[in-house]
Amino acid sequence: MSAPFRIEALTSQHDRSTFDCGSEPLNRYFKQQVTQDARRRVTACFVAVEQGGGVLAGYYTVASSSVSLTDLPEAVTKKLPRYPSVPAVRMGRLAVDRQFRGKGLGGAMLADALQRSVKAEIAAYALVVDAKDEEAAAFYRHHGFLAFNDNQLALFLPLATTQRLLARH
Ligand SMILES: CC(C)(COP(=O)(O)OP(=O)(O)OC[C@H]1O[C@@H](n2cnc3c(N)ncnc32)[C@H](O)[C@@H]1OP(=O)(O)O)[C@@H](O)C(=O)NCCC(=O)NCCS
Repeated sequence: MSAPFRIEALTSQHDRSTFDCGSEPLNRYFKQQVTQDARRRVTACFVAVEQGGGVLAGYYTVASSSVSLTDLPEAVTKKLPRYPSVPAVRMGRLAVDRQFRGKGLGGAMLADALQRSVKAEIAAYALVVDAKDEEAAAFYRHHGFLAFNDNQLALFLPLATTQRLLARH
């Protein structure tokens, strides 16, 4: 990453008012909804803070989830126990402010989410993501994510195989 950022949990001290990732639903959620969701413990939100000016350059949300085995490709399920579902961490949203795009921040936040998921003491089989469109899905595929059986915009990455991505950040 060229600009120095730190990634930390969102607090009331962070100024979200100027954030603009180019997607109105993602902007609106971040400015109007995320603190309420966090207070209700339905999501956690982490932000990338520009070290110099304290500007919020990006955010992502994560929560616990589960994945039905019938949604996973057979090549994956044949290596899993025959439970109806496996535990997962869901990254519901990921966004980088337009002025900080293309600096590796999206990849760094993805790596941060993977790292937090891998380090957690509660087990999760995979990080799953909901891509908002095909372009976002391509970003996740670029980082090794695989699509669910019937939904190309829902993707997952088994946490046991994340070491390579983490080593790059
Ligand atoms: C998608 C998004 C998070 C990427 O963030 P970013 O900081 O610009 O991306 P990075 O600079 O970290 O890119 C990291 C790598 O992903 C690649 N990449 C970025 N966007 C890509 C895309 N749409 N398709 C394929 N690869 C992509 C980069 O080329 C780079 O590759 P490298 O590490 O091999 O050099 C950002 O564009 C964004 O916020 N978009 C709007 C919101 C959105 O679509 N969110 C997605 C989830 S809903």
